This record gives sequence, C-alpha cells and structure tokens, in this order.
Amino acid sequence: MQLYPPSHYDDAANGFTLLQTVPLAAAMGAEIRGVQVPSMSDAQFEQFKAALFRYKMIYVRDQNLTLEDQERLTLRFGSFGTDAYTKGMPGHPNVQHLLKEATTRVDRVFGEGWHTDSPFLATPPAVSLLYGKAIPPWGGDTWWSNAELAYEFLSDGMKQLLAGLRVHMTAREAIRLTVRRDDQGKEIVGDMQMVLKEQEEMIRGNFHPLVRTHPVTGGKSLYVDTIYAQGIQGLKDEEARPLLDYLARHVTREEFMCRLRWTPGTLVLWDNRSCMHKAFNDYDGFKREMFRTIVNGEIPA
Ligand code: SIN
Repeated sequence: MQLYPPSHYDDAANGFTLLQTVPLAAAMGAEIRGVQVPSMSDAQFEQFKAALFRYKMIYVRDQNLTLEDQERLTLRFGSFGTDAYTKGMPGHPNVQHLLKEATTRVDRVFGEGWHTDSPFLATPPAVSLLYGKAIPPWGGDTWWSNAELAYEFLSDGMKQLLAGLRVHMTAREAIRLTVRRDDQGKEIVGDMQMVLKEQEEMIRGNFHPLVRTHPVTGGKSLYVDTIYAQGIQGLKDEEARPLLDYLARHVTREEFMCRLRWTPGTLVLWDNRSCMHKAFNDYDGFKREMFRTIVNGEIPA
C-alpha cells in the first residue's frame, strides 16, 4: 500500500520555514521542532496550524507549560469547546484534568476505545490539546488513525454508497462501558469525577455526515468510530451495523496509524475532523496525569 509520496513530508515544499516537522509515521503525525509554545509568534503559529492540518496530529516535546499557557494556545485556534464529561478544574473551567493514580485499578480509562472527541454534540470539538505532566516509564501511549487517508483508500463504489449518509453519534455506549459509581454514588472514570450534566442529550446525540469535509483544507474523511457511531439515518440497525463495523475496522487499519510514546512535558494536538484516537490502560502501578483542552468546532458538513 503506497501511503504518501516522500514529498508529502518536505518542509520546504510545504512552506514550513519557521519550524521543522519530523514525521512520526508514514500515515500521519509529526514532531514539531524549533518552537517554544508560550512564545510562538503569529507567523510561527500559522505554520504550526498548517502542520496540524497536514499531519492530523502534531506534538512538541520538553514544554514547561502552565495551565494558562495551554489555555492561551487553545484560544489561538478559536473559542473553548464544550466538554460534555467534566466541569473542569478549580479556576480553570475549560481545562480537563485526566488523572490515574499509581494505586488506581480500573477496567477502562478515559478515552479507551477508538473515537473522535464528543461527536454526539451538534458542534463537536475541532482540535484537542493534551499536555503530559506525569507519565509512566512505559505504557500509557496514545494511538491515532488518519480518517482522511482511510477515506482515500475506499473504492469509488464505496465512496458513492457513503455519499449523503448521516451517522448517528451517541454517547450511549461510552457511558455504559466507561462510567462507574464510587462508594458515594458519584459517577467516575478512573480517578476523575464525571459531570454528565446533559446525559439524555448526550445519548440522544446528533446525526452528522458519515463522510465529512474539512472546513479549512477541503479534505474528505470518514467520520466513524467504534464508540460513538451507532446507527445510520434511514437504515435499520441490522443494515447499518455491518457497514459501521466494516468502516470502523477500515479507519483503524494499522497502515493508517501512528503511536506516541509520551514523555513529561510533551504537548500533543490533534484534529478531530480528520483523525480518530485511543488511550491504553496498560500502566497500573504508575501515575499518569494530563491536562486537556478543546477548541470549539463547527457543524460537520
Ligand atoms: C483522550 O481521548 O482525549 C485521552 C487520550 C489519552 O489519555 O491518551
């Protein structure tokens, strides 16, 4: 399978003169070098954003960020997105604290299972930012898959079949699989207290195009995952299920993926319009602490 020609990664051809991009995998992902997030100039930020849209997921190592630095970077992309799961941190309502203590044992962690962020919302997040503070010595990697590349690799016949279909995105399965109750009856995931304010609305969800078009680049991508995509408008469940299962398998083929090993101080950004991601629960005995912010998106088209 020929994924991208080598020129796809050429900094000079891509116009990146104020930073360097170092691809993580053939399908997607790139490390950005030569930037310090808090002091990025506007010109450098434009290239940073362009790199995100090109590689779908980018990361910067060795950043010493405060919550305010992360909030400021988030706001350079747009307004804060709605987080449907938590109420944020004291004094930082738009920062989600992802924490699993060394002593915690759970069957599932937040973000486990292939997904795109909160697609059950009418305007799902455009971009997510995740900053790693305490990182296990091994395990706790995150995986992403390139949903635009997955779309490109479908046959013309399948592309025609999917054109115009709308997928039902609902949080029903995510809540059933991930959320449990602690001794006081509070809803939690790992060590995080959930605030499922709009649970009924999250379960009702929204119908979005199964093939969506990126609002900036015009690239088409599959908008389907294993957690939230639970039906197709106008199709019976027994008709929709095999198609969704096939597409979810296809979009998460190994060829379309990259995998990041975190280090303390790594900041990752991903574009929810064009990639899926998944967390792993393979670091019992070690603390993992991250801070997450999201940028508001648009109605998928
Ligand atoms: C997420 O899905 O946002 C969390 C990813 C991770 O913790 O690796």
